[in-house]
Amino acid sequence: MIPIRSRAHLLSLRAPFAAICLAIAVAPALAAADDEVNLYSARKEALIKPLLDRFTEDTGITVNLVTGKADALLQRLKNEGPNSPADILLTVDAGNLHRAKAGGLTQSFSSEIVDAAVPATYRDPDGHWTGLSLRARPIMYVKGKVEPSQLSTYEALADPQWQGRICIRSSSNVYNQSLVASIIAADGTEAAQAWAEAIVANMARPPKGGDRDQIKAAAAGQCDIAIANTYYLAGMLKSDDPGEKEPAEKVAVFWPNQPGAGDGRGTHVNVSGAALTAAASNKDAAVKLIEFLVSPESQAWYAEVNGEYPVREGVEISPVLAEWGTFEADDLDLIELGELNGAALMLMDRAGWK
Ligand SMILES: [Fe+2]
Repeated sequence: MIPIRSRAHLLSLRAPFAAICLAIAVAPALAAADDEVNLYSARKEALIKPLLDRFTEDTGITVNLVTGKADALLQRLKNEGPNSPADILLTVDAGNLHRAKAGGLTQSFSSEIVDAAVPATYRDPDGHWTGLSLRARPIMYVKGKVEPSQLSTYEALADPQWQGRICIRSSSNVYNQSLVASIIAADGTEAAQAWAEAIVANMARPPKGGDRDQIKAAAAGQCDIAIANTYYLAGMLKSDDPGEKEPAEKVAVFWPNQPGAGDGRGTHVNVSGAALTAAASNKDAAVKLIEFLVSPESQAWYAEVNGEYPVREGVEISPVLAEWGTFEADDLDLIELGELNGAALMLMDRAGWK
């Protein structure tokens, strides 16, 4: 259960961080030293830099940050091999974290602090990576066009009543690959195949754009249902741009697969996370940084700024997210999303999911 809690301590946290300058770009030289850690991050600098500055302030350890797209950073790690200066890879989706591990780009680390802070389902069982923030991929529906009573599970979106009414992005996107992997895990390959085919038949249009585009298409009347990650909707709701905020206000969140609905396994969730690289030469400093990122203060700030849920229990959630209420998350080990990624991709391809 994702709890709603008081936001008082969260608000008091935000002010000092906001005051920290965001202007520093990619560090020029990355090298091994006792008081340094090198971070390859697929998350935007503004979403992580203030936390890194706080870490440096607390520990005296300098963090050199390189940001880039997840795929490009994975490729870079591969190209650099054992000479890579990177100590930590920060990226979204268990599918990506698993890809890094399967490609031999990561190594295990052990930390009692991380183990105590992060539920085992959100960590690699071999200790190569840990989740840092949690996102859900629920059903979003256009208010007034769909009644929540018509919704129940992901599986039920296969019903012909949704023909021409669903917007969802392409199968090339890891978020959908992980969603389908979770359906394979729950229902088996055959049922998941039939489900994917039915979803393709129910699509309002061939997949295009990102998650925000699905929400906007729904708000614009092209479909009644959008599948999207929660932080996109949160970001749109918090935006000053009416082009973002107005479409977001037209949709509501429905938590599928809650107890009593279908198998009641919970709504599909995923993480952003951190892996220790295979080439890490600043291992101690890297583990210290990861431990810092799962501390209650970091968790509250990181989740708030990213519009995500903390992975650590007992940490406040953003008021925007709190408005959507509490939900049960699928407790599938996220490692399974990585392991079933290939099967999910093949299945979507066979289903004609563009
Ligand atoms: Fe995303």
